[in-house]
Amino acid sequence: MDIRNLKQQAEVELVRVTSDSQLEQFRVKYFGRQGEISKLLKQIPNLNKSDRGKFGEEVNKLKADLEAALGRQVVKLQKATASHEPVDLTVKTDSHRGSLHPVTRAIDQITDIFSRIGFNRVTYPEVDWDWYSFESLNMPKGHPARDEWETFFVDYPEHSKLGKLVLTPHTSNGQVREMQRLKKPPMRMINIARCYRRQQDVTHTFMFHQFEGLVIDKDINLGHLKGTFEYFAKEFYGPDTKIRFRPFHFQFTEPSMEVDFSCVHCKGKGCKFCKAGWHEVGGSGMVHPNVLRAGGIDPDKYTGYAFGWGVERTLSLRPDVQIDDIRRFYDNDIRFLKQF
Ligand code: DAH
Repeated sequence: MDIRNLKQQAEVELVRVTSDSQLEQFRVKYFGRQGEISKLLKQIPNLNKSDRGKFGEEVNKLKADLEAALGRQVVKLQKATASHEPVDLTVKTDSHRGSLHPVTRAIDQITDIFSRIGFNRVTYPEVDWDWYSFESLNMPKGHPARDEWETFFVDYPEHSKLGKLVLTPHTSNGQVREMQRLKKPPMRMINIARCYRRQQDVTHTFMFHQFEGLVIDKDINLGHLKGTFEYFAKEFYGPDTKIRFRPFHFQFTEPSMEVDFSCVHCKGKGCKFCKAGWHEVGGSGMVHPNVLRAGGIDPDKYTGYAFGWGVERTLSLRPDVQIDDIRRFYDNDIRFLKQF
């Protein structure tokens, strides 16, 4: 750096010096034994004889100017300290503290609720093979049930056994992965991850999150599933919350049900947030024997239940949140996010 630039840089730094320790740092940086001015002086023997005199003069001038500027800054700081009013630490300030995104907080809360009853939080790839997202879940290639999942396919060479690569349209891809990982029941997984679908409206965003539960053991039955939901609904929405099952169809569960919970807002009377007092939140059922087989588990020995819900949907219905357009979560409008 040439002398002029160095001077400019030092002056800019000096204006920012506001404490004794910063003053000391400045002194060391410029006037110390290894400081910038010493470095310049050490260059003198390497210069042409004819240039040495002029260069030396310039360095000396720089040194004098910086010393003067430093002196002025010291005086300025002393004046500022002397005129300081006493500080009232009880005065409320207007400073804004950042906070976690409401969806992140919901994920933490869901993780916590399920870990208290022995579920183990896992995460699996969010870009995964067709086989894990569909085929292992009893949806062979070309099966019409696949249409439900408005899938994004990745432009990538196909795997000979596992097929195409997809952006996971649901967290159910974790089911067979978990069976393969643990090999033997008992299994109690909660898989929370990003999912992607070609859908965008008030209840859908291209990217969203799901939480997927999977429990496999000897003699697992629907009663266990119901108990788990009753517990979750009360923990997440409040102690008066009720749940109900409606028969449904999923290829990967038999029987399959959709799960509703009672509207906390209108207490079941019906309001703009619910359908006649209930909210639909997600799917569930007893794991289909073909899915157990795909994961290497003997369906004659073990049974299991599974469920998958959207995080944003579940959160949007909580009484303290209640928003009717989940796209707001991802507008990144600080005025919206600050409310939670
Ligand atoms: N994967 C389903 C979906 O995205 C939700 C679901 C339904 C998950 C039933 C399950 C289940 O594990 O058993 O719509």
